[in-house]
This record gives sequence, C-alpha cells and structure tokens, in this order.
Amino acid sequence: MRKEVMILTGAGQIGMAIARRMGYGKTIVVGDKKIENAEAVAKIMNEAGFHVIPLEMDLSSRSSIKHLITEAQKYGEITMLVNAAGVSPSQAPIEAILKVDLYGTAVLLEEVGKVIAEGGVGITISSQSGHRMAQLSAEEDEWLACTQTEELLDLEILKPENIKDTLHAYQMAKRCNEKRVMAEAVKWGEKGARLNSISPGIIVTPLAIDEFNGPRGDFYKNMFAKCPAGRPGTADEVANVAELLMSEKGAFITGADFLVDGGATASYFYGPLKPQE
Ligand SMILES: NC(=O)c1ccc[n+]([C@@H]2O[C@H](COP(=O)([O-])OP(=O)(O)OC[C@H]3O[C@@H](n4cnc5c(N)ncnc54)[C@H](O)[C@@H]3O)[C@@H](O)[C@H]2O)c1
Repeated sequence: MRKEVMILTGAGQIGMAIARRMGYGKTIVVGDKKIENAEAVAKIMNEAGFHVIPLEMDLSSRSSIKHLITEAQKYGEITMLVNAAGVSPSQAPIEAILKVDLYGTAVLLEEVGKVIAEGGVGITISSQSGHRMAQLSAEEDEWLACTQTEELLDLEILKPENIKDTLHAYQMAKRCNEKRVMAEAVKWGEKGARLNSISPGIIVTPLAIDEFNGPRGDFYKNMFAKCPAGRPGTADEVANVAELLMSEKGAFITGADFLVDGGATASYFYGPLKPQE
C-alpha cells in the first residue's frame, strides 16, 4: 500500500516533536545536513512504531531539496511538510544564516508547493526573532514575500554591508519566513493545501543550548526569566500548536504565523524585557 508521506527537514527536537504528533501512519522522510541526526531521529521513532526514512540533505541547496522531494515521492503522495531545519546566530556566520534560514526555506516552500497533495498542510518554524526587530517598510516586506527565490539574496536589504551581525541576519531570515509563508499560502491554496509558520520563543533544544552557552547566553537567560511564563518552552508545546494548524481543526487557518514564546515578545515591547534607551 502506498502511504501518505510527511517531509521533515531538520532532525532536531522541534521537528521530531511535531513528527511524532502528526506523522503516525505515514512514511516520514527526514532530511538533515547531518545524516547522523536524521538517523538518530529515525532510530528513536522507528523503535516507537513510526516509519521513518533518514536522508542527507542541505536546505541551502535547491538540487538537494529537489532530491529529497523525489525520494519522498517514491513512498507515496506528499501530504505534510514540517520544516524545522535551521541554524542559529551563534552557530553560523551571516552568509550561512541567510543561505539556510532565508533562501533555503523559501526554496523548500516553493518546491514542495509544486507537489503538495490536495488537502495537504505545511508548517515552517520561524522565530520570535522576526517579531522583535524594527518594522520594515511595506515595500521591504513585499520584497521578502514575493521576490523570485533565486534573486532574494541580491536584495539591497540583505547585502552583507547592510546586515549588522548574525543576530540581524537571523531576524531578517525569520521575518522573511513569515512573509514567504503568506505569499506561498496563496499558491498552496490553489491546490487546496494550507501553509503556516510557528514562531517559537526559547525552546530547550541543542540549538538553544548553543545560544545559552554562546556570547548572548545571559541575554537569553534573562529573557526567559522575565517573560510572563518565567521559563523556556519545550518542543512538545510547539507541537501542540502544530497539531492545531495541521489537523482539521485548523482548516480555516493558512498564511498565518503563530508566536509561541511564553509572552517574551509582549514583554519586549510593553514589559520588563523592553530595551532600555
Ligand atoms: N530552539 C529554539 O529556542 C528556537 C527558537 C526559535 C526558532 N527556532 C527554530 O527552530 C528550528 C529548529 O531548531 P531546533 O531548536 O529544533 O534545533 P536543533 O539544533 O535541535 O535542530 C536543527 C536541525 O537542523 C539541521 N540543519 C542545520 N542546517 C541545515 C541545513 N543546511 N540543511 C539541513 N538541515 C540542517 C541541524 O543539523 C539540526 O539537526 C530552526 O529553524 C530554529 O531557528 C528554534
């Protein structure tokens, strides 16, 4: 029997939590740049009754994304996409953050949008970082949303001389994810499919632990201590939201972004996390 297929990119904690929640009964093809991460997730999930195929893939490469899709289609129709691959500001230089988190995500949404089944659903993991930066102009937002994927990194606002540091690159990438999801959701809708993004706050995963131990460690620890929830979140709490968005209950939700940050963004604008002048 040919099964429905979920594509999962990024074999990290958030991706696995969502795949465990929504991937039962499907074939899950998990792509990660580090094949050992994909294999580790496949082992845990296969030993828990799922059907997971690990694959090496690089989100920053269109040909690698296309290869992943072709491999996935061998198992059946692609009905779900979970994009949870990415690099954080402490893990990579500016160019890599823009190539993976910004360009790669845009290409993945475009390529999967071409083959997603009717009734299919997609989720991409953005970040609260895209919400805690100065507003861009309406024109800049539209560039991020609608520029041809191959021309995205040539935009003036993304030129290296206009990106201050890796955090700024990450913020721009995550803002772009949200805008891209809006524009792509229109195209996915023509196929009867839905697409949304989730913007997590601090979720304890290896990526976040790198941040806690990186140059901005104190900043992050202060952030979760002073947010209304008073703690970092868990990948399973992100999966709670993904479950709503990817199930029938989310049938009227598409092209939207959901902050899941324990109130850190609210506090950043109107509470104790507000930056002091
Ligand atoms: N953990 C957090 O606090 C947090 C907060 C907001 C947003 N996010 C976002 O969530 C997503 C998942 O992060 P996580 O916290 O689960 O991290 P994680 O480190 O557990 O997983 C990320 C995975 O992505 C893979 N990856 C990195 N570059 C890749 C590439 N070029 N191609 C394919 N795979 C690649 C890594 O090998 C890793 O397995 C990222 O996009 C991240 O920006 C995380």
